[in-house]
Amino acid sequence: MLLRQVDEWVDAELPRLNQAILDGAIPPGSLAGQAREVLLPRLPSITRLSRDEARRLVVRLGFLGASVARHYQEWTPGGKELPERAFDGLPAGSDEIPFRHYFAALAEHTGDGHYGRDSYASLVRWNVGTIEVRRGDEVLSVLPGVFDDRHVRSYTGTSGEERFFVLVKQGEAIELAVNEVLEPLTHDGAGLVGEHAVCRVRLAADLMMALRKLFLDFAVLPPERSMPPEQFMDVFRQFAVHWTVGDIPPSGALDPEALKRDFLLGIAIPGYEHNVRRLFPALLSRERTTIEDLMARDTLPFRLLTGLGIDPGELRAAPPARLRQLLGEDPALADWYRLLTAHARAAGAHLMLSKKFLFKPQRRRDEAGAGDRRLVSNRSGTTGMNETYLERLTRARQDHPLAPLRAVVADFPQINRCDGVRSHPELISVALVG
Ligand code: HEM
Repeated sequence: MLLRQVDEWVDAELPRLNQAILDGAIPPGSLAGQAREVLLPRLPSITRLSRDEARRLVVRLGFLGASVARHYQEWTPGGKELPERAFDGLPAGSDEIPFRHYFAALAEHTGDGHYGRDSYASLVRWNVGTIEVRRGDEVLSVLPGVFDDRHVRSYTGTSGEERFFVLVKQGEAIELAVNEVLEPLTHDGAGLVGEHAVCRVRLAADLMMALRKLFLDFAVLPPERSMPPEQFMDVFRQFAVHWTVGDIPPSGALDPEALKRDFLLGIAIPGYEHNVRRLFPALLSRERTTIEDLMARDTLPFRLLTGLGIDPGELRAAPPARLRQLLGEDPALADWYRLLTAHARAAGAHLMLSKKFLFKPQRRRDEAGAGDRRLVSNRSGTTGMNETYLERLTRARQDHPLAPLRAVVADFPQINRCDGVRSHPELISVALVG
């Protein structure tokens, strides 16, 4: 009973209070005050909760923590420098445990190794309902959440925020399908050029094209059906504040399926592994384990070229006649080329989104002398990736080991060998199903 009241408060009252504070209709301290009086005393003893109840409460208290932190830092001089002070005087439950300690114990109780603050997992994967990716009638991936109420929780209850969370989870579900399709090819001794492998590689490429389309479609939606850049920059992103100095706020950069794909397909960026390891605290334990495992293996393109006895340096220097000869001998190279190129094109479409919704509008603000937001800068992403770095990531994906085949690959059309299933990204659908 108590838990239901907590749920209702966070789902309905929290966005209303946030919006009223942002509109200047109520004082910024009202949210923390209400939470102290109404919500926090009702929080249950953590050990009485099931793992799923703990996960749902992590999502909800994540929204609460981010909201309390944001308003405190926005209105308290020096608040940004001492972010943990936002949670002073917020005891939780009948044992009156300090809020952040309660949150950390709750996160631990999920059994997932969840971070001691809100995260990509809590805001996106757990918050949004089940997303299913299909090719026609065939289900390719299922990415569940931890709620079955079809409600998408958000900071201010606007449909733009809800749509953004759904968009990101749809992207992750497509990426999950890609990784699951490619996974059998990572096994020791798995062939990479036979029919079985080629069909998987083609399907993975179709999925990457579907991911690109998801990004492009979002970019051209009218503002009332997407999220206007001002809302993204001034409202939504400003909730991604630090809870403690140096912690890792939520970000698309913590999307584990994208990280896995980079290690499956390879990305030639010096220090990339190190940068990913820095993000580990904000991932779930099984995500850390899988990514570590993939980091320790050779990438699929490396194994492909080694297996065919092709030296990447030789490929880069090869004249068109030699490239044609290689493709003639191993037509599967064309399918791998198309997969790596589809990966790069999806990255390019994502880069376009980041420019459209963040970097370009911020540049216009800078040029007009309007400056930056004080809490969460709009000159870079929340884990610190700026426009130049995102451009570098895209270029590194374009500059993949099979890129030299670009000059001749069009002469090698796909031969349909995959059980009559034609390669067609349009067959892929991604939908919220529960
Ligand atoms: C309007 C939509 C979007 C905008 C404006 C946007 C913006 C950004 C920004 C600014 C970063 C840098 C993050 C940081 O520094 O922590 C980033 C990174 C990232 N985002 Fe997005 N993003 C959008 C949609 C998505 C979606 C739908 C996905 C899900 C697939 C996604 C996945 C990623 C990934 C994987 C990264 C890491 C960088 C990379 O690997 O290229 N983003 N995004």
